This record gives sequence, structure tokens and C-alpha cells, in this order.
Amino acid sequence: MTIAIKTAADIDGMRIAGRLAAEVLDMLTPHMVPGISTEALDKLAHDYMVNVQKTIPAPLNYAPPGYAPYPKSICTSINHQICHGIPNERPLKNGDIVNIDITVIKDGWHGDTSRMFIIGEASIAAKRLCQLSYEALWRGIVKVRPGARLGDIGHAIQTFAENAGYSVVREFCGHGIGRKFHEEPQVLHYGKLGTLEVLMPGMTFTIEPMVNAGRREIREAGDGWTIVTKDRSLSAQWEHTVVVTDTGYEVLTLSAGSPALPAFVGESVTV
Ligand code: MF3
Ligand code: CO
Ligand code: CO
Repeated sequence: MTIAIKTAADIDGMRIAGRLAAEVLDMLTPHMVPGISTEALDKLAHDYMVNVQKTIPAPLNYAPPGYAPYPKSICTSINHQICHGIPNERPLKNGDIVNIDITVIKDGWHGDTSRMFIIGEASIAAKRLCQLSYEALWRGIVKVRPGARLGDIGHAIQTFAENAGYSVVREFCGHGIGRKFHEEPQVLHYGKLGTLEVLMPGMTFTIEPMVNAGRREIREAGDGWTIVTKDRSLSAQWEHTVVVTDTGYEVLTLSAGSPALPAFVGESVTV
């Protein structure tokens, strides 16, 4: 397995793509209210990417081996949907929790990020899942530095999520990213300390844990893309694209509207 090492110029390109992906989420945020359809969100995002940002929505017609081309420009995964939900005309309702996953291409570089949104007022259980899955993402991010291993990231995420009483999806993972949407390595969200690849400066990959309130088993919904929890429990996911720096990490998918970082992050960033 070969993991590409990006040059400083490559990372400049990825920094731009990453910020633009996050800014699509910022643009959508005020629209995340009861009554709007995910189809309407897809159209808003598509038009913003193509006409305002001059970016390419990477999901549109994306067709990995064994998959039919993805028909929309964003992924919208609601409640028990884990990932790859396809936008449709059904209105969002009060209490739904929704993951919006955005991937843009700018000057050939990909930026990939997702956030959870709470529609109106959600249950305490749904809010806790959204909050703790966000912390799980950052528990993984702060492990990123030269010399650490991919297994350290998965271990941190899995331990945190399972201690909170949740389960971590195994079948989908984070991924290397750059000129390609999905490249090596696979970034598992579970694992053992000190195992798998050693991280080196210039590696770029996503971390995107899918955390289920119930059991970890998944099912494909029947449209060829949407993945749901087998037990129909709620699921939440957050995603950032990161680069390994000489001293630690840089998150490439931050923007003005990014949620505040968990309190523990500040401590470990200061080397
Ligand atoms: N953005 C997803 C990821 O984080 C991939 C979506 S593939 C699509 O890797 F075709 F469904 F868009
Ligand atoms: Co991704
Ligand atoms: Co994504």
C-alpha cells in the first residue's frame, strides 16, 4: 500500500477545497428547518457550488466499482440512516437529526466534510448522540501526528464511543483524499493502539466516524446507496479532512461556521 505524500503546493490546493466544502455547510445551515426537503437542500448546494464557488460537486455521478452513479450533489442521511442518503422530496420534520456530507473539487483537489444538524427540537437522546459523535471525531483528530499510527486514531474513537454506550460502524471508513475522492489509506474508526500505518507529514485523509445509538450492524436500504442501522437506532456522523503536519495535524475543512472545537482540543494542539 502506498500513501501519497502531498507537497506544500498540493496542500495549498487542498486547503482551499477543504474550506469551500465547509462553506457549503455554512450556507445550508439557516435552511435546516422543519418543512424543507433534502431535494431542496441538494439544489441549493448544487447551485452554490457550481455558480458561486465554481467547484464541482464530487458525489454527482460518482460511481465506484459495483455502484450505480450517485444521482445527487450531496448526501443527506436522516435519523437511522448512517450515510449516503439520497436527497428526496420528503420534508424534514421537527426532531429529525440529519447528516449533510459535502465533497467539492476545486482545481482538481477534493475537500470532504460533514456535520449533523438538529431540525427544530430533538430529543435529549438524539442531541447527546450528535454531541458525543462530534467529540468522537475530535478524539481521533488529536491523535494525528508524525509517528502515530492509523490504529491509534481508530482506537481513540472506538474507546470513546463505546464508553458512551454507543457502537461504531465497521463497514465504512475514512479515506485518503487528494486528486482522487477516495484513495489509500483506509482510516478505520475502530482498532488497536500501535497498529497499522505510521503517519508521515504530507499525508491527507478524512476521519468520519459513524456512531450508532444501538448496535453497529448495518443494512442497505434498497436504493443501492443508502445505508441504515439494522436495528433502526439513530446514527450520527461528522467528517473532517486533515493533513499530517511536521508537529501534528491541520484540519483542512474548517470555516467561519464550523462548530466550536471540544474543550480538550486546545490543550493538545499547543505543543
Ligand atoms: N462523502 C462521502 C465520504 O465521506 C462519500 C459519498 S460517495 C457518494 O466518503 F457517492 F455517495 F457521494
Ligand atoms: Co469522506
Ligand atoms: Co464525506
